[in-house]
Amino acid sequence: MAEEGHEQRRRLVLVAAPFQGHINPLLQLSAVLHSKGFSITIVHTQFNSPDPSNHPGFNFLFLQDGLSDHDIASLDLTAIVLVLNDKCQLPFQECLAKLVKEQETRGDQIACVIYDELSYFSEATAHNLKLPSIIFRTSNANTFLARSVLIEMYVLGRIPLADPLSQKAVPEHPPLRQRDLPISSFGPMKNFFKLLGNARDVRRSSAIVYNTMDCLEGSSLAKLQQHCHVPIFAIGPIHKIVPAPSCSLLEEDTNCMSWLDRQAPSSVIYVSPGSLASMNETDILEMAWGLANSKQPFLWVVRPGSVHGSERAESLPEGFREITGEKGRVVKWAPQREVLAHNAVGGFWSHCGWNSLLESISEGVPMICRPSFGDQKVTARYVSQVWRVGLHLEDELERGEIESVITRLMVDKEGDEMRQRAMDLKAKAELCIRTGGSSYNSINKLVELIKSF
Ligand code: UDX
Repeated sequence: MAEEGHEQRRRLVLVAAPFQGHINPLLQLSAVLHSKGFSITIVHTQFNSPDPSNHPGFNFLFLQDGLSDHDIASLDLTAIVLVLNDKCQLPFQECLAKLVKEQETRGDQIACVIYDELSYFSEATAHNLKLPSIIFRTSNANTFLARSVLIEMYVLGRIPLADPLSQKAVPEHPPLRQRDLPISSFGPMKNFFKLLGNARDVRRSSAIVYNTMDCLEGSSLAKLQQHCHVPIFAIGPIHKIVPAPSCSLLEEDTNCMSWLDRQAPSSVIYVSPGSLASMNETDILEMAWGLANSKQPFLWVVRPGSVHGSERAESLPEGFREITGEKGRVVKWAPQREVLAHNAVGGFWSHCGWNSLLESISEGVPMICRPSFGDQKVTARYVSQVWRVGLHLEDELERGEIESVITRLMVDKEGDEMRQRAMDLKAKAELCIRTGGSSYNSINKLVELIKSF
């Protein structure tokens, strides 16, 4: 059915990847493109599906993804993505063919398919149906370049690394050390490299969109473009361009906002390991006592299942809640973008997922970096060594060390300087999306390209 008043709109089909750090930017990108006059259809797997009722302006279609309970329970993300790409091709073919057939009656023509790089099954279907396609990379340019180094090393038989914690420089990619290379911790290496190869293949797609910006990665983006035969559009930070509703897969605990209202400006350290990373019980005990001993107010996200072998709060040490009292809040999922925008938040202990990094920088919040796997390691290195808006907490977690790093960030002059640099980056990020800024211009060029199809 044609949307009333929008008969001339063209439709975009966006294919998501079923992880929080991928769903958020894809829905934010959809909101931007919707604001540019396109109708939006989101195609998603049943696994980790977003709630369509939060996005009444979009159509949602769900694919039978064929994932078994065993696949999901394995928590092997690489294997899950490989299975999805295998099993979703046919359902997507049927789904897209139906959409193409219906476009006459709907009154909007499909302009192209935009797919998350992890949902690369989409490209062949789009091509079969003579639709152009565009890749959406939710991570960053530096990681893409670092993956190229990693692949070369793998081909030369140098992966797995003799010492995964090696401090040796990676000469092709300063300032990375071998320990910062974006290696996955899921499943066998050969699966990981198969996935990397598939995800980086441009195939017959017409362009690549990155949720990043020139002020962070200008030279890496230029390097990428030199080696890429299709245009690259860096349009981030996407979440700041148009307001997009929450896409959380877990229920957000909004009570923490009134607690934040009661805290002094820039006094709270917000702690979150993102949507996938997990830790062991020893780490969580050290973190708990490090936070408590720092005497700094904290808001800590402990996701259900994120501590090996336990469920949420039971894994906190005995007496921790009594000792910290009103000083701290532990939630299972926070409204993170709002939290980081709150003036009580003065620091972010983060796993350095790319969305978290963009959200932190966009609010001028400096970080303590504790990466787990993949691109997080690259980002942590850039945060501490290049953008210098955070401290990299390496090696084993130990409460004394944690207390000291929190004090350095939240109390010491060193932290103030990082906060100032984070505020400078925030201003630069705002310029990127303002009229005439690099991301603003890239969005317009992207829209022109889509309209030319
Ligand atoms: C994963 C990888 O870890 C990351 O490096 C990659 O770039 C994307 O996929 P994830 O662990 O989900 O990411 O982290 P991140 O990219 O930071 O995305 C998490 C999202 O969840 C953010 O948008 C954040 O705002 C949101 N979030 C997180 C909440 O809304 N509430 C929380 O309590 C925690």
